[in-house]
Amino acid sequence: MTDIFVEKSIELRDAWEAELQKQQTEGSIDVLSWLSRMTLDVIGQAGFNYQFNALADGEEENELNRAFSTIFSSNMTFSVIPLLRATFPSLRWLPADRDAGSKQARATMERIGRELLDKSKKSLQTVEKVDKSTLKGRDILILLLRANMATDIPEHQRMSDQEVVSQIPTFLAAGHETTSTGTTWALYALSKSPEVQTKLRNELLSISTDNPTMDELNSLPYLDSVVRESLRLYAPVPFTQRLSVKEDVIPLSQPFTDKKGKVHEYLEDKKIWGEDSLEFRPERWESVPEGASAVPGVWGNMLTFLGGPRACIGYRFSLVEMKALLFTLIRTFDFRFAVPLEDIGITSWIVQRPFLRSKPEAGNQLPLKVKLVQRA
Ligand code: HEM
Repeated sequence: MTDIFVEKSIELRDAWEAELQKQQTEGSIDVLSWLSRMTLDVIGQAGFNYQFNALADGEEENELNRAFSTIFSSNMTFSVIPLLRATFPSLRWLPADRDAGSKQARATMERIGRELLDKSKKSLQTVEKVDKSTLKGRDILILLLRANMATDIPEHQRMSDQEVVSQIPTFLAAGHETTSTGTTWALYALSKSPEVQTKLRNELLSISTDNPTMDELNSLPYLDSVVRESLRLYAPVPFTQRLSVKEDVIPLSQPFTDKKGKVHEYLEDKKIWGEDSLEFRPERWESVPEGASAVPGVWGNMLTFLGGPRACIGYRFSLVEMKALLFTLIRTFDFRFAVPLEDIGITSWIVQRPFLRSKPEAGNQLPLKVKLVQRA
């Protein structure tokens, strides 16, 4: 799927170049909203061969995205009802759907989901007849359908059409704003540390093509360290909920004193990462501290993608997507803050995003001053 990531990164780069030409001197771009459009296009295409065209037309122009946004409203004025329902089982009688608009949105999503499913099934039938190896555009939906059609799985393990269609909003929710926010925080961190940004740019310019392969992207050690460090310090999904089924001890980030006055310390940041644990320092990844290997995460000695049987299944996907984005953007542009650093705050509603303290009503954003890099 790397070619989709790179192609869409280049489309974003070109859109920003055009934007800069329009603005002439100012050069301020809200990177969060643009990255969100880019990752929406990517998950549509790589997830289920669906063209949102969000980079070209804007996110709101698309019917499926509008329906999705209505259900998973990501602005700061969300309804508390779903949260109350999830937290207090006794409140499940509250209406789950906020209004008729939400019902309508569900119906739209269902209809488009069914259409995509039918289209994928058809394409699978025709291709399968010709030659399996000619199956291009291996989106997640096709892969899922193929696995589901395998003759060697027991009947009760096969997914129903309804279950397959339900994966579409799942992948949209899980794979869209997580990666765009992760990349936004990486640009934030790089704007805060211009020397890291320059070092990264020098490494990226050592590759002679604008269209790197996945292996080329993964062969760049400093890019890898920047992505790791950014995901360590600015985890896009900062918390989750679990219901314990038996008594256990949860590792905590802060030491705590129990009823008997005994102090318990678990996974304290500084113990694992050192005194500079709260600093953005990609170089720390040149030698991972011993204590970090005890963190039970599915990736990178951290819990950014969680761990265990419900860990993120899209982490490899998002790591390459983030690398493709940073590769293309940092080679082309220089990034600095467009507002005083103190003005940038964090809101957290499933995904944690930046906003401007001076303009909370404007919703989530990260305006950066973007300048074309003069290449030698
Ligand atoms: C930087 C980007 C991403 C981050 C930080 C992230 C983080 C996470 C986390 C923390 C979970 C566990 C949530 C929980 O159980 O409470 C999760 C689950 C999941 N993620 Fe991601 N994710 C990212 C990108 C993606 C992408 C790109 C995809 C799809 C292509 C994806 C698909 C999923 C799915 C399907 C689950 C549910 C897995 C299950 O419950 O079995 N994620 N993700």
